[in-house]
Amino acid sequence: MKVSALIRRRRVQQRIKELARKINHDYQHQKPLLIGILKGAFVFMADLVRYLTIPVECDFVMVASYGSQTKSSGRIKMLLQPTTPLKGKDILLIDDIVDTGLTNKFLVERFKKARPRSLKLCALLDKPNRRKVKVKIDYLGFQVPNKFVVGYGIDFNEQYRSLPYIGYIKTPTNE
Ligand code: IMP
Ligand code: MG
Repeated sequence: MKVSALIRRRRVQQRIKELARKINHDYQHQKPLLIGILKGAFVFMADLVRYLTIPVECDFVMVASYGSQTKSSGRIKMLLQPTTPLKGKDILLIDDIVDTGLTNKFLVERFKKARPRSLKLCALLDKPNRRKVKVKIDYLGFQVPNKFVVGYGIDFNEQYRSLPYIGYIKTPTNE
């Protein structure tokens, strides 16, 4: 399957440095708990934390949404929970891409129940065209068009996560 480049490696790195600078500034008196949403966020989070100069804790969740390969359905299941106690923490959720927003809504509602001190969202990509629920992205890398994107942690059928840039693949609905 053909992958076309969308955002080059250098631009991705530059933008992540900028996000890290904002996060360093906004959390300068805090020690946030970064919660990466597996699997897609693993590359983004690994790069982001290395640009941070503030102390952070890291944890992960894994979620799966059911649906066809290129569309998320909104039925979400938690496959892995964070082991860090969340109460009183400044949580920064790290996501690969916000599409319908349903995964994010599910996680925010879940984590709010644990009474963190704050809860913010950092997402590498935003595909606003397909949004079904309102999502506030506090730190955003890039907006992308309504294409199926891959690379930099993001997959199609578990492939392409290792690409160092963001590309998109052609599907029957995405020329
Ligand atoms: P949402 O619940 O619809 O916002 O979907 C979020 C998840 O769906 C992301 O974290 C991705 O794992 C997956 N996803 C959404 N759009 C894409 C895409 O264009 N390429 C690959 N995965 C995607
Ligand atoms: Mg995925």
